Amino acid sequence: MTADETISARALYDAARTALAAPSIFNTQPWRWHAAPDRLRLHADRQRQLLTADPQGRLLTVSCGAALHHARIALAAAGHQADVRELPDPADPDLLADLRIAGVHEPSLAELQACAAIRRRHTDRRPFTTQPVAEATCRALVVAGELEHAHVHLVGVEQVGVLALAAVRAGALQLSDPDYRAELADWTHRPPWSGEGVPTATTVRAVPRRVPIRDYAPFGGETMRPGRDTDAGARYLILFTDEDTPAAWLHAGQALSAVLLTATGHGLGSAPISDVTEVPGTRDELRRLLPGLGRPQVCVRVGYAQPGLPAPATRRPYEESINTAP
Ligand SMILES: Cc1cc2nc3c(=O)[nH]c(=O)nc-3n(C[C@H](O)[C@H](O)[C@H](O)COP(=O)(O)O)c2cc1C
Repeated sequence: MTADETISARALYDAARTALAAPSIFNTQPWRWHAAPDRLRLHADRQRQLLTADPQGRLLTVSCGAALHHARIALAAAGHQADVRELPDPADPDLLADLRIAGVHEPSLAELQACAAIRRRHTDRRPFTTQPVAEATCRALVVAGELEHAHVHLVGVEQVGVLALAAVRAGALQLSDPDYRAELADWTHRPPWSGEGVPTATTVRAVPRRVPIRDYAPFGGETMRPGRDTDAGARYLILFTDEDTPAAWLHAGQALSAVLLTATGHGLGSAPISDVTEVPGTRDELRRLLPGLGRPQVCVRVGYAQPGLPAPATRRPYEESINTAP
């Protein structure tokens, strides 16, 4: 290998390592990276799909899209121009993306800030404080998501009640389903050494707040202290797409990552909310909040966090998710 080829191979591998910090539904980390010297390929790992909450694999693909965006940001911040082909092989729909280095790239400030935010971003399920999020900051989040070929709707103050009702309905319906309860129990009780799932210690118990969030601890268990806040200053965004296809889900995931990293860069706490999109009836209710037509993919809550960091989620050992075999 020439010196340039060695640098490219290292950058691709490092991008895959960085992408392991991406958020994923139930922290399933449903991806497999194949890092070859001249290309990096992202595969969906169907073994890690939530068959009850996500029977189509939509949120699995959204999660992989978030990982793809993390990898792209890592390459851009390291000064590499990436050539990215999404869903490049119709015969292999689980091959979600193929990345190659196409030249040098001068990273923008936004890319450097997004890359720096990767390690600092954590899902914070505690209620956010009363401090309002400035309109200009909300705009920056919308723009960041829309640059990734998805739409972002900032939920109006008058629409929050509809979102809250949808969240209550989705939570009640899901928890009344024994298959969902079994899936939830499975992914909230993974052994600590596995580095996957959502331990109840990273969640909060149900408390009064503007929009209820998914209850990860209906069976009890140690949770974070919720504090006295109620999300009074929080804002909610709905990421949506024109189509409901794997290509659209991949874009929604890249937009989700862009919104979350931009929020972190602005000093905001953030948390995805997807239960309202997992139940067909409540997904339809969200659809009616959108300007025009669209398919809601995932929501995001942003706001100013209480003092102290949320309990961080863990990750699987990187050797399990990145394969370098020829
Ligand atoms: C597609 C998607 C859907 C998610 N849905 C929810 C959700 O409904 N509620 C929630 O609290 N977190 C949700 N999350 C956040 C994940 O649980 C979180 O990313 C994962 O546990 C890893 O933790 P981290 O984000 O702190 O790294 C979602 C993440 C993704 C990518």
